[in-house]
Amino acid sequence: MSVRRVLIIGCNGLLGQKVTELFVRGSSYSITLASLEPKPLQAFPSVEYTPFDMTSKKEVRQLVYGCEPDVIINCAAMTNVDACENERELAWKINVGGLENLIEAARRSNARIVHVSSDYIFDGKAGPYTEEDRPEPLSYYGKTKLAGENALRMSGLEYFIARTMVLYGYAPGTKMNFALWLLQSLEKKIQVKVVNDQYGNPTLADDLAYGIMRGVEVERTGIYNIAGREIVHRHEFATRLASAFGFDPSLIIPIKTASLNQPAARPLKSGLITLKAEVELGIKPSNVDEGIAILKSQLSRSARRLGDSAPVPGQSGGKHSTGRKK
Ligand SMILES: NC(=O)c1ccc[n+]([C@@H]2O[C@H](COP(=O)([O-])OP(=O)(O)OC[C@H]3O[C@@H](n4cnc5c(N)ncnc54)[C@H](OP(=O)(O)O)[C@@H]3O)[C@@H](O)[C@H]2O)c1
Repeated sequence: MSVRRVLIIGCNGLLGQKVTELFVRGSSYSITLASLEPKPLQAFPSVEYTPFDMTSKKEVRQLVYGCEPDVIINCAAMTNVDACENERELAWKINVGGLENLIEAARRSNARIVHVSSDYIFDGKAGPYTEEDRPEPLSYYGKTKLAGENALRMSGLEYFIARTMVLYGYAPGTKMNFALWLLQSLEKKIQVKVVNDQYGNPTLADDLAYGIMRGVEVERTGIYNIAGREIVHRHEFATRLASAFGFDPSLIIPIKTASLNQPAARPLKSGLITLKAEVELGIKPSNVDEGIAILKSQLSRSARRLGDSAPVPGQSGGKHSTGRKK
């Protein structure tokens, strides 16, 4: 089947914007965009945007039946890990119920669903993980991501699940991610505490978007780890960011995760082995320094001050906040 009509859900988020840019540039697609906000954060001429709430079965049906997509790419989720821990009903409604609504509506045009999952489905005792390793989520967010995977696997539809972690990058108007929060703090010479016991692959959002596009192009079904090519602990990532941007790394104080007392437990020895995706999708995600260099050039091209991103509510408890302002 050659893919023509693509529906991108959550197009206003960090990943959603990157996926949208790639698919809009690949002119062979007819694109429909949808997200929760009344307006798109990036407008593309001749690309239709529909505001909708994926927790509403009716709105999802209207959207999906209206554009009859060949592929639905779901970049939407409740992504704040601690908020998911505290607001469990809402987290389930969005991360599981929303996906189930998409699955139900997708049956009519037999659309393929592309979905994004997380390393938080693992307990972080024995990472890095392959696609075959046994999930054991520690947090409620992780439970919702695993339940979403299972709903899709059992749906009978063609599916592609991209598991990823520590997503960072710049897109206009998105909420803060770890890299932007850190750089903004250092630019203001604010001392920050960052954990040195959480290991994983920092993933440039552009690389994940490209992996997703390759998954659509080669029509793969199954689970694929798509993440940055290097595993480091968060403090190491932070100091490399600081050095690349010419900020003072001594402002970054190493701490342990336990001292943050966050509502949701984090996997510590995590990480994703990306060999399957590299071989089967033909991708080569950036390592840490390559990803940082791309981010730097994007930020300078956008002539954006680091402080422009929307703040994460309760930053020290946010999904990316494995660091804390002193
Ligand atoms: N961030 C990470 O470190 C990380 C790590 C592993 C996996 N992931 C997964 O990667 C995916 C993308 O993450 P991200 O960081 O790009 O997310 P994000 O920036 O938080 O964006 C999430 C998007 O979901 C949309 N959304 C939320 N609730 C919705 C609803 N009820 N109906 C319709 N749209 C809704 C939001 O819409 P509006 O903006 O229009 O309100 C937003 O565009 C998610 O599945 C996430 O779980 C992320």
